[in-house]
Amino acid sequence: MKNGAIGVFDSGIGGLTVLKELLARLPGESFVYFGDTARVPYGTKSPETVIRFSRENISFLLDLGVKLVVVACNTASAEALPKLKREYALPMVGVTEPGIRAALAQSNNKRIGIIGTAGTIRSGAYQKGIKSIDPAAEVFAKSCPLFVPLAEEGWVDNEIADLIAREYLREFKERDIDTLVLGCTHYPLLRTVIGRAVGDGVTLVDSAVETAKQVVEVLETNRLFSREHAGEFITYLSDIAPSFREIGERFLGRAIPAIELVSV
Ligand code: DGL
Repeated sequence: MKNGAIGVFDSGIGGLTVLKELLARLPGESFVYFGDTARVPYGTKSPETVIRFSRENISFLLDLGVKLVVVACNTASAEALPKLKREYALPMVGVTEPGIRAALAQSNNKRIGIIGTAGTIRSGAYQKGIKSIDPAAEVFAKSCPLFVPLAEEGWVDNEIADLIAREYLREFKERDIDTLVLGCTHYPLLRTVIGRAVGDGVTLVDSAVETAKQVVEVLETNRLFSREHAGEFITYLSDIAPSFREIGERFLGRAIPAIELVSV
């Protein structure tokens, strides 16, 4: 089991930001990445659909013999993971819980902002998760749907991105938050404009980084840690758009070796 790959899935391309952090911290592992590019986005779909898609994605990864599943998609983590954790025996790590823990650890005034897709924010997963650990914390949540296409277009540090970020995030200025959770796979790419919009006094929590740290802990706890591999990974997609490699390599920060088309 120790030598099995780590399975990572996302609604599409964005989970490569999580894979990037996993590769950086776990050089002795191998990875299987599944991006559900045929059915992306998840952020605008109903919870029932996100749960169904996520279940199918996990079954696909299980058939490949993975030892652990990382739900790299915030929407799937928020809407589907609590239910799906009860259905499968293998360890699963989502991006929501690590983000929540990091936000509470970082925040001094316990006034925390959350940004994500419409589905993530509507699910209340971050809001409830923070409150369940610290009932006195104040949480302010906002969906920022235009950040996803901006990141994919590569408009991550220009006037348009600045304008959109300022418009979305203006309300956080009045809330006196000191911490903001980037609760979507795509948002780490926009951290410069997001940081500019909320101001220097606000710490940005990158769920991808926090998730990778949690995966290390879970592997150690379950004695699943491997040093046998060399950080190799294979990418499976449910649709291969012509732009995938170019955008994906930008998200991952390196070349994507093998891409295979599958249906789940
Ligand atoms: N991966 C999704 C998330 O992190 C963003 C894209 C989508 O809506 O599917 O929530």
